[in-house]
Amino acid sequence: MSKKTGTVEQDKKLIRRAKEARRQAVAPYSKFKVGAAVLGKDGEIYVGCNVENASYGLTICAERVAIFKALSEGTRQFAKIAVIADTDTLTPPCGACRQIIWEFCGDVPVVLANLQGRVERHRMSELLPMAFDRRHLR
Ligand code: THU
Repeated sequence: MSKKTGTVEQDKKLIRRAKEARRQAVAPYSKFKVGAAVLGKDGEIYVGCNVENASYGLTICAERVAIFKALSEGTRQFAKIAVIADTDTLTPPCGACRQIIWEFCGDVPVVLANLQGRVERHRMSELLPMAFDRRHLR
């Protein structure tokens, strides 16, 4: 069976929502603004931006904000996630976010974009091969 990737229209909408969310980034230390949007299987979209702290390690990435917002609203099944930043080489989720995305979203398409309109599509199994997850906890 071929893996579902959804539609390009869906990707465009997610990127637009992630771009809007990026404007809310709280990034006074790095000045690096990131936006994310996660699509629930029910069609709902949840967005997030990065939120930094003077105690740098407490910073939370845009992807995790979006996913935790969705989870806290009761969404449990996810179809796709998009991430946008102002970089030539597209910004992928950090290692911690990859683990979180795998846990809650599984092997979803990951749409990366920048402000110039460059877009790449990957899958979580490509970004986090040989993932540790609940299957190992038996
Ligand atoms: N950041 C994200 O929000 N998502 C990513 O995928 C990469 C990094 C944030 C964390 C921090 O606020 C800033 O970008 C610089 O690392």
